[in-house]
Formats: sequence, structure tokens, C-alpha cells
Amino acid sequence: MTEPDFLAATRTAYDAAAVPYAELVGEHFPTDLIGHAMLSVLAGRVRAAGGGPVADVGCGPGHVTAHLNSLGVAAFGVDLSPEMIALAREAHPGLRFEVGAMEDLRVEDASLAGVLAGFSIIHTPPGHLPRTFAEFRRVLAPGGHLLLSFQAHDRPAEAAEAFDHKVSLAYRYSPDHVAGLLEQAGLTEVARLIQAPGEDPVRGFPHAHLLARR
Ligand SMILES: C[S@@+](CC[C@H](N)C(=O)[O-])C[C@H]1O[C@@H](n2cnc3c(N)ncnc32)[C@H](O)[C@@H]1O
Repeated sequence: MTEPDFLAATRTAYDAAAVPYAELVGEHFPTDLIGHAMLSVLAGRVRAAGGGPVADVGCGPGHVTAHLNSLGVAAFGVDLSPEMIALAREAHPGLRFEVGAMEDLRVEDASLAGVLAGFSIIHTPPGHLPRTFAEFRRVLAPGGHLLLSFQAHDRPAEAAEAFDHKVSLAYRYSPDHVAGLLEQAGLTEVARLIQAPGEDPVRGFPHAHLLARR
């Protein structure tokens, strides 16, 4: 496939920012109890269905991939940025990390028990989301779960709004809009959790966590 420009721009930006990004999330992730709650739900659902591989797409430095493994889930990480993947491999030598794009995962159809996209669809321009969600649907086994976390907004009439993310151009999405696109892709919403804007110390945006099932 010809790579869309936004993927090259995102890769270059995260390659340059990989080290400070890893330091920042190393500080914030341990105290993100609400995010942890949704990761526990994903892990619990995957284990209850008998387990299987889970792709952490846009895994960054691999801290969440490692956390899912600590919850008894066979998670592996995929990221556009070779620098991020190098940091993830260094920090978590026993785990599997690969450079790749979430729009074009190198896995068989219906082979994954779960997909996690933690704050990684935010760099995908609105028109490209249906293709990304179709790929998640392709790789998930029947009954498999998808957890999507992203900066959100609460104006359902507006699908997306660009914002000044420090690393690369990003979009925040209406949770209803995203849930509708998931439904169109064949992924049914199971639960959603919205963190209040005041919980985001950086920009004051709500964070959405959407759990869906194939
Ligand atoms: C904001 S960081 C989130 C990292 C990690 N998931 C977390 O929650 O801290 C976004 C990550 O997604 C990756 N990413 C963005 N778009 C991607 C795509 N289309 N395919 C694979 N990785 C992507 C970036 O390289 C970056 O490492």
C-alpha cells in the first residue's frame, strides 16, 4: 500500500520525542487509576474468553503492554516509531514489540483475542478512521474485545476537532461518533467510561475509554 502522509509525519514526530514521552508516561501511568480500571476490564474479558494474543497498537514505550502481561494477558506491542519500539524492547526484553501500522497489522484474520489502542487513534485524521476500525474488526476473533482510549469532546454534532498536541497534529473525537463508526465496522459497544475534563492536567479535555466486542 502507499503510505498516507499522516503516518510518515506521526512516525517522524514520535521518533524525535520518544525519550521525553517515555519519561512522561513513566511518571503518569502508575497513578492513572481510571485508565487502569478499563485495562483490567479488557484483561478480564480476554481471560474469561479463554485468553489469546492481544495487540497493543500504538504501544509507545511499551508500559501498557507490560501491564497487560502482568494481568495475565499475552499482549504484544506494535508502533509506527522505530525509536519507540527500541525503547519498549530495552525496557521489557521478554516481550514482543514490532514496528508497524495499526491500519495494516501483520496478523491473520480473526487471530486476536483483543486489541488495545491507547491514545493512538488521535493522530488518525477523521476520514481514515473507518479503515482503521475495519482492520481491528478483521484481526479480532469472534467475541474478541477492542479498548479504545482517546481525548474526546462533548459536541456530538462535530465529529472531530484538531488540537495542538505537543508531538504531532492530533484530533479529539466525539465518543458517540466513534461508537457509531465502530458499529458500522461490525464492533458493538460494550461499555464506555468518560473521564471528566478536570482530570486531564495537561489540556483539560475529557478522556473516553470505549470497550467494544466483535
Ligand atoms: C500518544 S502515544 C500513546 C502511547 C501509549 N499507547 C500510551 O498510552 O502511552 C501515541 C503512539 O501511537 C503511535 N501511533 C500513532 N499512529 C499510529 C499508527 N497509525 N500505527 C501505529 N502506531 C501509531 C505513535 O508512534 C505513538 O507511539
